[in-house]
Amino acid sequence: MTRKTLMMTAAALAVSTGAAMAEGEVVGFSQIGSESGWRAAETTLTRQQAEERGIQLQFSDAQQRQENQIAAIRSFIAQGVDAILLAPVVATGWDSVLQEAQEAEIPVVLLDRQVDSADDLYLTAVGSDLVHEGEVAGQWLVDEVAGEECRVVELQGTTGSSPAIDRKTGFENAIEGHDNIEIVRSQTGDFTRAQGKEVMESFLQAENGGQDICALYAHNDDMAVGAIQAIKEAGLKPGEDILIVSIDAVPDIFQAMAAGEANATVELTPNMAGPAFDALAAYWADGTMPEKFIQTESKLYTQADDPQGEYDRRKDLGY
Ligand code: AHR
Repeated sequence: MTRKTLMMTAAALAVSTGAAMAEGEVVGFSQIGSESGWRAAETTLTRQQAEERGIQLQFSDAQQRQENQIAAIRSFIAQGVDAILLAPVVATGWDSVLQEAQEAEIPVVLLDRQVDSADDLYLTAVGSDLVHEGEVAGQWLVDEVAGEECRVVELQGTTGSSPAIDRKTGFENAIEGHDNIEIVRSQTGDFTRAQGKEVMESFLQAENGGQDICALYAHNDDMAVGAIQAIKEAGLKPGEDILIVSIDAVPDIFQAMAAGEANATVELTPNMAGPAFDALAAYWADGTMPEKFIQTESKLYTQADDPQGEYDRRKDLGY
């Protein structure tokens, strides 16, 4: 009897006794690290979702290193876990380890970032349309500047990660054909607050103390929050002298928006684990194959959308 058949038999027994399908299953979670408020929220919510469903979560923090993620996945395979959640730090280099999981008949679910491996190497991917997020941010700026000249600086996410690649593409798609808007500087801030601040300081210095910058596009809110600090220290008003649009919708950006220091953010839900566990429960129950991509929403919030209320609502959610 294969491992999968055994799992299906156990699932059938669970049905006959009325037990929850995911109860007692062991899931390994290879998390990237804790580079941002959003990431911390995703970790908290994944733990909560697992606990609510009686799933035993084996958590591994890769501290931003792909080799740590690969080692964690191999260790999950050796333990014979029932499934693996993977938030992949970069898009390339996963083929071998995904093949090993497949050979061991352990389903892998990708969370929030994509890989460039063949899609039959994982069960499903839960995440947003990352290109669309960049397009939403870019379209906000197009509408906001309404034909005025606008020199944009861009803080990119982790080099080689799917959100850094796709959010850049999406923003460029949105401003294409709008010759009044130009990205004049673009550099990685690695999705962290500290590097967002540091890189913004160098942008300000290179752009006439910030006088020549019309807007900042940051691939996540944490880098935007770091940049806001840099802009204030340079004697300028973030949100007025320099427009700020970013992605994630974490509480701190709503606080900045309520203070008039940030202008817009595109929401990325940190609850990727809920849909992932639902898909796994159906798969464990009777082999139901989920869609290859389970898409989450990308909603735009501006200063007009009650930022203080959004802050209050979110800060108790595990951020
Ligand atoms: O992959 C999602 C991105 O990773 C979030 O936008 C960012 O904050 C995080 O670190």
